[in-house]
Amino acid sequence: MPLRNKVAIVTGGNSGIGQAIVLALAGQGAKIVIDYIVDEQAVEGLEAEIAKLGGQAIGVDADVSKPAEIQKLVDAAVQAFGRLDIMVNNAGVETRSSILDTTEAQYDRVMDVNLKSAFFGTQIAAKQMIGQGGGGRIINITSVHEDWPMPGNTPYCLSKGGMRMLNRTAGVELGPHGVSVVGVGPGAVATPINASTMNNPGLLAKLDAAIPLGRMARPEEIATLVAFLAGDGASYLTATTIFADGGLMQSSVGL
Ligand code: BGC
Repeated sequence: MPLRNKVAIVTGGNSGIGQAIVLALAGQGAKIVIDYIVDEQAVEGLEAEIAKLGGQAIGVDADVSKPAEIQKLVDAAVQAFGRLDIMVNNAGVETRSSILDTTEAQYDRVMDVNLKSAFFGTQIAAKQMIGQGGGGRIINITSVHEDWPMPGNTPYCLSKGGMRMLNRTAGVELGPHGVSVVGVGPGAVATPINASTMNNPGLLAKLDAAIPLGRMARPEEIATLVAFLAGDGASYLTATTIFADGGLMQSSVGL
């Protein structure tokens, strides 16, 4: 159990990649605070599944676009499990809107849920880690689109590009405190955020053809990377992003 005695928070932890991360970390022995905003039933299902395996997890309802609610998550981790070792800022949304028709409300929502939450999630978790001593790991789930344009999804790309520099800059600032900050950049993953693509056979075939490995990732294939980054094997990684994209960003038609 490589993560035994470690305490983790996973934001957006009751669906998609977040849910797979919760199960992967719990499977390695970590105690987990599962953040969510909707679908309490999914959280209860996860808590029960983890309890059956002999692990511990609690669901906490918090809107991570508000720093005070992120503080609530950290307080819950400390109250229930005594400390915080691993912060996974995973919650994310997208609008699939172009620069020409994105509204102010769409822009604010994407930036708040994706980037502001990761910024303050990093800040608030780091304060707890520094205060308790012993260092910590902050893992921010970005995307290939922290670096790779996706026309028609402009606010999302902006938010992920911001997270790219959050990982690099916060990693440098927090290194002397023993707190590492690493980004995980998934490619296309079979989760609810991609439902519109998965429900459109033509679009799905086009996407699969663009991925050198020929298919979308399963959420577990991202979660195993996060579990690795949370453990001792990743002790020298910080201020960077690890991509798990089936080769998508390097894909070339050879023209
Ligand atoms: C986005 C998807 C997109 C995928 C691959 C993800 O980060 O959420 O909309 O299909 O990247 O481009």
